[in-house]
Amino acid sequence: MRFTVKSEKPGEIKTGCVVLGVFERRRLSEAASDFDKTTHGMLTDLMKLGDLDGKCGQTALVHFPRGAGCERVLLVGCGKQADFNDKRYREAVVNAANALNGSGAKDAASYLAELDLKGRDTYWKVRRLVESTLGTMYTTGELKSEKDKTGRHLRTMAVNAPAVSDAAAAHKAIRDGMAISAGVELARTLGDLPANICTPSYLAEQAEKLGKEHTNIKVTVLDEAAMKKLGMGALLSVARGSREPARLICMEYRGGAKGGKPVVLIGKGVTFDSGGISIKPAQAMDEMKFDMCGAASVLGALKACAELRLSLNVVGIIPTTENLPDGNASKPGDIVTSMSGQTIEVLNTDAEGRLILCDALSYCKKFDPEVVVDIATLTGACVIALGSHAAGLLGNDDELSRQLLAAGEYAGDRAWALPLWDDYQPQLDSNFADMANVGGREAGTITAACFLSRFAADYRWAHLDIAGVAWKQGKEKGATGRPVPLLTQFLLDRCPRND
Ligand code: BES
Ligand code: MN
Ligand code: ZN
Repeated sequence: MRFTVKSEKPGEIKTGCVVLGVFERRRLSEAASDFDKTTHGMLTDLMKLGDLDGKCGQTALVHFPRGAGCERVLLVGCGKQADFNDKRYREAVVNAANALNGSGAKDAASYLAELDLKGRDTYWKVRRLVESTLGTMYTTGELKSEKDKTGRHLRTMAVNAPAVSDAAAAHKAIRDGMAISAGVELARTLGDLPANICTPSYLAEQAEKLGKEHTNIKVTVLDEAAMKKLGMGALLSVARGSREPARLICMEYRGGAKGGKPVVLIGKGVTFDSGGISIKPAQAMDEMKFDMCGAASVLGALKACAELRLSLNVVGIIPTTENLPDGNASKPGDIVTSMSGQTIEVLNTDAEGRLILCDALSYCKKFDPEVVVDIATLTGACVIALGSHAAGLLGNDDELSRQLLAAGEYAGDRAWALPLWDDYQPQLDSNFADMANVGGREAGTITAACFLSRFAADYRWAHLDIAGVAWKQGKEKGATGRPVPLLTQFLLDRCPRND
């Protein structure tokens, strides 16, 4: 799929389909009313027939509009003009894309980015249009023997930017939106793969592939022997029950100043979480193949970063393993020694994410990080607290937290802060070790972050709990690619733009 920038009138442009917004009740957007004039009131007539009055979710496709240069016109309901906001805009774009995907149009010209949206400029609107449109094109089903027959025809979409200054912003937005979408697509693809294919070694191969595609990414993979030498007793304790060997993947993207401190991203890569000896109930256990979505988002963000050639140093670290029960698996009550030297009583083998992350948090110090952000499908409690709308954010530096929240807000991939007060720390007390790996039923997302904080005291650090946002349940079960947009925006915000 390609995006271009045009500055032609909607009634005159030669294209497979012109896409126009209509507000409730029967209020044409500027471009739509322009089109209406060229077609001698065709849209007014159509609305009079009652086919569309501008409600959200409505679309109407008309072929061969009289007097216009296009083959089709697609009208998209945008709701009440006074209520038009980021969410409605995204919905309009998605509805338009779905309607186009269902049509035979090979190219289209969208005028939706011209709609007035409070506080949002051309760059933002075009980028969201690109990302949301591409989001509708994603298909799983590589593993179905009958390939998806709903062949899509759309190949090119032109966005309209009448002013010259808008055209520059639109070009930039297309470039950024395409790169972020490529990162999201990678994260979704890896997330959707089953655990018998997407193993720790498979993730390592994917990282190496990324390193081959982008010469500015250097990839190193540590095996269990190397981890043992480093004293990663916590990470390795999770891997004991699995026949698939664990890996620690490091991806170094050097786009910034030589010797400049990197942003470190750490992604939880549990390719299947059965719970281990503290085994999970059978119900929906298949969804625990998504327990590597933190890792997938780090791969996705690094891909976006490399495609955009961001002038920034970024290191991605992925601790990856399976969590399975076995005669050799960790048992509740086992005490392990982490790379930091701190000892951990494993009261629940299902709280494995923090065990692999803590050693990665110690390991990353060798990169002398500017800031560290870990991303993990860490707690079911976070799904209860925030649902699927926002990731949970906790950390030890207010400025870093603010930057991540702002990046999520801008990118339409929100996070919400929870407190990391010392008051919660005693929940991790253990009678036998420096700490327990679980903190009881109360405030599960916070005590998980409390655990991590004990390994991240030497640098500015934030933790994103993505258990609620990384995948969808139910009929549309599948990975979302979140929080690749948040992470990429965070990185974009940190670099001096060279354009
Ligand atoms: N991967 C899960 C978290 C999870 C659970 C994500 C359900 C999405 C849906 C994590 O490893 C886990 O099992 N966490 C436990 C922690 C508990 C034992 C303290 C949980 O949330 O139940
Ligand atoms: Mn678990
Ligand atoms: Zn897990």
